[in-house]
Amino acid sequence: MTKYRLRPMTEADLELVLYWRNHSEVRRYMYTTHEIGFDEHRKWFAGARRNPAVDLMIYESEGKARGFVNITRTRCKEVADWGFYLSPDAPKGTGRSLGSQALVYAFGQLGLHKVCGQALGFNERSIAFHKALGFMEEGRLRDQHFDGNDFHDVVCLGLLKCEWQIKDKGLNNE
Ligand SMILES: CC(C)(COP(=O)(O)OP(=O)(O)OC[C@H]1O[C@@H](n2cnc3c(N)ncnc32)[C@H](O)[C@@H]1OP(=O)(O)O)[C@@H](O)C(=O)NCCC(=O)NCCS
Repeated sequence: MTKYRLRPMTEADLELVLYWRNHSEVRRYMYTTHEIGFDEHRKWFAGARRNPAVDLMIYESEGKARGFVNITRTRCKEVADWGFYLSPDAPKGTGRSLGSQALVYAFGQLGLHKVCGQALGFNERSIAFHKALGFMEEGRLRDQHFDGNDFHDVVCLGLLKCEWQIKDKGLNNE
């Protein structure tokens, strides 16, 4: 049996993904931090599923769903934004595996040229995570996001396919 895989999200995943998304340790790092209700969540999923530019994926490890990845190509077919979060009880190291699998899918299956990420300035874990996967910090949008109380920087990160290929080869040789 494959130890891990990425597969499309289905309606059967809705409850679990909502539980992850509403968890305080996920929600605090998102642009919208209110508790999402099931109806709002179902509408979001229905809309995203109809959109051919959006891929909603579930990362599974040893048969258990452990994380969610969203790859959206809104600018053009070759450049995508991604977002992700893990199950709050996912073991250490799950993020790196989810990220690696998602990039194989993005650059391999989707044939992308570039993957972009955005992290709130205080989300140091996500910024370090992007850099560990080979992303470059491309800019910092100062006080770009207001959470209702405070302004936060938004850090823009980007990874080109050619950079990923070099990084990937390096990792395989380690
Ligand atoms: C970001 C996230 C996916 C990382 O997953 P993870 O399982 O913690 O990551 P891993 O253990 O695989 O670590 C991968 C890299 O992330 C970084 N990282 C992980 N935990 C970290 C921490 N506590 N502090 C700083 N960097 C950290 C490191 O660079 C690490 O590489 P290293 O182990 O070689 O140092 C996960 O924490 C998460 O879902 N966070 C909440 C949602 C979120 O912030 N999503 C992104 C929005 S932009």
